[in-house]
Amino acid sequence: MIAITGASGKLGSLTIRILKNHVDPEEIVAVARSPEECTDLNEYGIWVRGGDYNSKESMIDALQNVDKLLQISTTATGKKGIQQERNVVNAAKYCGVKRIIYTSSLHACRESRFLATQQASATESFIKQSGFVYSFFRNSLYMELIPNLVGNASETGVIRYPAGDGKVSFVNRKDIAKALASELLNRHEENRIYEITGSCSYSFHDLAELLAQKTGKNMLYENITPAEYKELLNEQSVPTDTVDLLTSLARAIRANEFSHYCRTLQDLLNEKPVSLETYLQSI
Ligand SMILES: NC(=O)c1ccc[n+]([C@@H]2O[C@H](COP(=O)([O-])OP(=O)(O)OC[C@H]3O[C@@H](n4cnc5c(N)ncnc54)[C@H](OP(=O)(O)O)[C@@H]3O)[C@@H](O)[C@H]2O)c1
Repeated sequence: MIAITGASGKLGSLTIRILKNHVDPEEIVAVARSPEECTDLNEYGIWVRGGDYNSKESMIDALQNVDKLLQISTTATGKKGIQQERNVVNAAKYCGVKRIIYTSSLHACRESRFLATQQASATESFIKQSGFVYSFFRNSLYMELIPNLVGNASETGVIRYPAGDGKVSFVNRKDIAKALASELLNRHEENRIYEITGSCSYSFHDLAELLAQKTGKNMLYENITPAEYKELLNEQSVPTDTVDLLTSLARAIRANEFSHYCRTLQDLLNEKPVSLETYLQSI
């Protein structure tokens, strides 16, 4: 059986919906901490099981008779996030899961400036040490994050963000889901690390230009300082943990940790990934 965690989330649910068209839905286990949010999946014949990353025991219940697991990274950060991801890996080990496909982060290494990437790197190491066959999907930033990154730019005509000239190889979430589904269907037994990126990378100047073309209105990029960005987030009463996460993301973008791009996603999909231009036209 194939289990997918984060089934109530955007990437997990997209992947399940693609996967069910290629395997017997009774071979799929959708795992969510609030399974009542996934009852529509029952209608396709997919198993829905409760599992909270905070509890190894609940993940053990969720992963019974599973041999392949798509582990969607958690939204929690810091020590809690690392512990949650370890709980999932430990539960998978206990249940005899053979293969883990894990959604990691581009530039995964302990030295990353982005807190979530540091966490992904710790989980990758733990999965390796635990002896699974693994595939790591080192995802670049989702295109779907752009509205959050540019804030109220459509009203002010200015994107205020501290990315310097850093570039990002934005990737479409649905493309990642398609590639994850194909990896889950693949029977290979060797370890793989994929860098999942768009076909090119864009600076925030480029982004301003594309948004101006889309809206027909002037749009500029103002490279504010990290301190100004922090102040902006505090003015919006963003919780401290999230401020730390978002400022670490901006530092990583500025240092080009998300600028790398390659053909890997195109090869996995057998077609061109959705371009940023196409995505921006759709929103
Ligand atoms: N590459 C990028 O640009 C990017 C951007 C954002 C996030 N991410 C990472 O990629 C992951 C998937 O992205 P997404 O867009 O699908 O995010 P999402 O829609 O926020 O989904 C996250 C999923 O994780 C589940 N989850 C969180 N804490 C849990 C817990 N304690 N126990 C069980 N499940 C838990 C959520 O469950 P609930 O529905 O119950 O909350 C949800 O199903 C995120 O979780 C995050 O780690 C990457």
